[in-house]
Amino acid sequence: MYIKSAREIEIMKAAGEIVALTFEKLKEVIKPGITTKELDQIAEKFIRDNKGTPAFLGYNGYPASICTSINEEVVHGIPGGRVLKDGDIVGIDIGVVYNGYCGDAARTFEVGIVTENAKRLIEITKESFFKGIIMAVEGKRVQDISNAIQTFVESNGYSVVRDLVGHGIGKNMHEAPQVPNYGRAGKGPRLKAGLTIAVEPMVNESGFHVKTLSDGWTVVTLDGSLSAHYENTIAITTGEPKILTMV
Ligand code: MF3
Ligand code: CO
Repeated sequence: MYIKSAREIEIMKAAGEIVALTFEKLKEVIKPGITTKELDQIAEKFIRDNKGTPAFLGYNGYPASICTSINEEVVHGIPGGRVLKDGDIVGIDIGVVYNGYCGDAARTFEVGIVTENAKRLIEITKESFFKGIIMAVEGKRVQDISNAIQTFVESNGYSVVRDLVGHGIGKNMHEAPQVPNYGRAGKGPRLKAGLTIAVEPMVNESGFHVKTLSDGWTVVTLDGSLSAHYENTIAITTGEPKILTMV
């Protein structure tokens, strides 16, 4: 686990701001009729115009700058010719490298008018992140975060994906420790000020099982139920965590 200096966290905040601003940019254009490829192109241009580099492009051979995961797609959907339609929900995951440091975040957007179910799933997923990071304080342990997320999600009748986890982040997009969205309070590595992690609940409407499609990337719910994703990069401090990917 790499502990970052205040100076390094400032750079990560700058990387995270580009991520946050890219979401604002995409928010304006996410409407029925747009393709996920167009979203990818808009995001890539915006990131580069702001002196960042898309962190996902080329990562383990990933072919795009962002991930676009529609409806039952959980994460890592590859942008392409698919047209967003009224009633879809779309998870967008964005990673940026700026001055050698990474920012990573995800949001789930409504396309046009969506069902009350879908709205609630998106809302509970976002809220579970904020429940989780109440525990993201020096001296607590990683699974205190995990347990808070899981408890909140399950008490609302949904399930947390177990095959994919949050992660440490810094010069590398993925560093130790792993940050699962399920676990036991009091377990896992101890949190220390200066640790930077991406906390990213992936929440399914029904069962927690997932599978990867034959494109080698797209993860979908096994039962076909809807899934939502919400992620921010945060820095542990001796007090409240600093959220680095929000403006
Ligand atoms: N935010 C995702 C993660 O934390 C991004 C990985 S997509 C990839 O793992 F294409 F870069 F692999
Ligand atoms: Co991540």
